Amino acid sequence: MKIAFVGKGGSGKTTLSSLFIRHLVAVGAPVVAVDADINQHLGAALGLDDAEAAGLPAMGDRLPSIKDYLRGSNPRIASAETMIKTTPPGQGSRLLRVRENNPVYDACARPVKLDGGTARLMVTGPFTDADLGVACYHSKTGAVELFLNHLVDGPHEYVVVDMTAGSDSFASGMFTRFDITFLVAEPTRKGVSVYRQYKEYAQDYGVALKVVGNKVQGQDDLDFLRAEVGDDLLVAVGHSDWVRAMEKGRPSAFEHLEEADRDSLRTLQATADVTYHRRDWERYTRQMIHFHLKNASTWGNARTGADLAAQVDPGFVLGEGFAATA
Ligand SMILES: Nc1ncnc2c1ncn2[C@@H]1O[C@H](COP(=O)(O)OP(=O)(O)O)[C@@H](O)[C@H]1O
Ligand SMILES: [Mg+2]
Repeated sequence: MKIAFVGKGGSGKTTLSSLFIRHLVAVGAPVVAVDADINQHLGAALGLDDAEAAGLPAMGDRLPSIKDYLRGSNPRIASAETMIKTTPPGQGSRLLRVRENNPVYDACARPVKLDGGTARLMVTGPFTDADLGVACYHSKTGAVELFLNHLVDGPHEYVVVDMTAGSDSFASGMFTRFDITFLVAEPTRKGVSVYRQYKEYAQDYGVALKVVGNKVQGQDDLDFLRAEVGDDLLVAVGHSDWVRAMEKGRPSAFEHLEEADRDSLRTLQATADVTYHRRDWERYTRQMIHFHLKNASTWGNARTGADLAAQVDPGFVLGEGFAATA
């Protein structure tokens, strides 16, 4: 299952992603955690110290080799140079799974020990001004999009992406890559306006969107969120002393997280799990082609000097029937 946490900066995306990842690992689920947030803090939120976090390999730096591996022997993709972030897999492409070892994980993922097990962590790498807005060919999140578009994931295995709700994710189609999107919103007008904007994009593409209220203090906050987002409000998380202690560098065992928050995390997992029956690999493939053609005509063809529409393999549908090709 592919799950995104989005929202305004400072709303608590990274905090809630990290708690959800800890929860999944604690219940024994396989997890790939991906930091695609503009502020790269997921490693720290998962307990890595500064040196460990700084030592994580950046997916953005490894784009050429990721592309080379994923295109495999696909005859429609002549070279890594003509592969853009939206280039869809086809016959001959190499596909990825959550539970396996592959060269992409070898290059980009590092194990992070958590209570009860280990998560694989991948990070896009730090964003610069040049990455914002104009991010096309060298897009940092492009590596994540390629990963998601070549991933054949099943139930009870999880890819959790901590992600900025920026224009890049809307232009590329990244926002359509998830079984469910958790929009983290504080009970403020700004928090709610990010929700409205996201909802508008999401509606046209059948994106499952739920709001996770954060830093909710008392009934008035809850009433506000309920009035603004209605039934899209899934859970409301309050101030957590466990999170605060962790921020002070005094982490305690995950089992000591406040019971109400543990309950919210169980609800998030249950909500993600029930979206599995809505899986539609044909639609998933169709949407990636839609956004690929859009990116090809707006900048990709010009940038690569190739007709990128020809990369689409009309007979190919990504899905669980495929075995990973080594
Ligand atoms: N439920 C919470 N309880 C206590 N502190 C929180 C909570 N949610 C977020 N914070 C704190 O708020 C700050 C911003 O959260 P963060 O997860 O980094 O936001 P984002 O990733 O959306 O920018 C951090 O210092 C974090 O520890
Ligand atoms: Mg963050």
